[in-house]
Amino acid sequence: MSELKTIGIILNGVTGRMGTNQHLVRSIVAIREQGGVELSDGSRVMPDPILTGRNEAKLKALADEYGIENYSTDLDATLASDRYEIFFDASGTPYRIGFLEKAIAAGKHIYCEKPIAVDSKAAFDIAEVAEKAGVKNGTVQDKLWLPGILAFKKLKEEGFFGEILSVRGEFGYWVFTGHDEAQPAQRPSWNYRNEDGGGMIIDMHCHWRYVIDNLFGEVTEVFTHKATHIPERIAEDGKPYKCTADDSAYALFKTADNVICQFNSSWNVRVRRDDLLTMQVDGTKGSAIVGLRKCWAQSKDQTPRPVWNPDVDSPIDYYAGWDVVDPGPCDNAFKVQWEMFIQHVVEGADFPWTLREGAKGVVLAEKSLESHETGSWVKV
Ligand SMILES: NC(=O)c1ccc[n+]([C@@H]2O[C@H](COP(=O)([O-])OP(=O)(O)OC[C@H]3O[C@@H](n4cnc5c(N)ncnc54)[C@H](O)[C@@H]3O)[C@@H](O)[C@H]2O)c1
Repeated sequence: MSELKTIGIILNGVTGRMGTNQHLVRSIVAIREQGGVELSDGSRVMPDPILTGRNEAKLKALADEYGIENYSTDLDATLASDRYEIFFDASGTPYRIGFLEKAIAAGKHIYCEKPIAVDSKAAFDIAEVAEKAGVKNGTVQDKLWLPGILAFKKLKEEGFFGEILSVRGEFGYWVFTGHDEAQPAQRPSWNYRNEDGGGMIIDMHCHWRYVIDNLFGEVTEVFTHKATHIPERIAEDGKPYKCTADDSAYALFKTADNVICQFNSSWNVRVRRDDLLTMQVDGTKGSAIVGLRKCWAQSKDQTPRPVWNPDVDSPIDYYAGWDVVDPGPCDNAFKVQWEMFIQHVVEGADFPWTLREGAKGVVLAEKSLESHETGSWVKV
């Protein structure tokens, strides 16, 4: 039997929510437990991670809990080591570029969370720096591997929709303000402060960019209205803070395939829909409700024939006549992309989700903000 190859990976900023849950536990630890990533020749490569960050106690606790041998608060020394080929960053958005610059200078391949920067110039600059240095690079675009979206793609490839006309995305849920002690906030406070890289548009329009580009055609134009509906929330230290970032965005996107996409994104809505993200896709031959984990479809033949009459309860159950679509085999979306990035680094497998693609998400966020400021459609 051939010797198991390893690949050294620096995991930076993984004591945070995303870093711990999705990248460390659900991706790297899960990949180690399954015996590594399979390569095209049938051999396997095993991640050899080191956790880096500022707080030694937190890093140690995380490393102990998940059986990771190495951790360090000395990022420079870690970057200087040949043992590690990949640098991954899930730290706070404002720190990303600084970390990526250092890691590229140290010759590491780069993988990181979105948004890759808070402005598009910085985002394209870092993509160019990585390309010029000849390092492989990637941005997390996890939604593309969600079961609901995989099921949608299957339907689309089968021609189920005919011509796709429009998409209505509803995203969000109620994030508690923390004013009531019994109902503490369930997201970090930086998300509601502009100066710390927060804001619905910079957060979610980065996602909507690659979702729309990949599923409904390249985004060509945007119209957005943003709002900060809740002006004050309570921080982790129990003190009130002013919300300087948008907590909601109401957006329309046009695509090169002539699909009109409308996305409402809000942290101030109570959920009465099938999932925290749903996209209703309507086409000439059929429609789908695409959730995170499930996708429901209704064909032309199953479509009911409503007649307007508000004087009686609807004789039609509008939730009937939708079939759940089987997405085929699925794994954690972050893990799937991690495996592909590792295959890309080790054996040059395709990986189109580069820093440059990540920068496009930042462009859409920027154009959305411009649309809000000018009250007009903005070309992307
Ligand atoms: N792909 C997704 O669906 C998704 C979802 C949520 C967040 N994110 C992105 O992930 C990133 C982290 O978000 P989160 O919700 O996990 O936030 P978080 O506040 O829970 O975590 C941020 C982490 O960065 C660390 N950090 C902050 N400043 C640092 C510094 N100077 N040096 C080293 N580490 C530092 C913090 O200690 C913490 O570990 C953000 O960029 C966010 O946009 C992506």
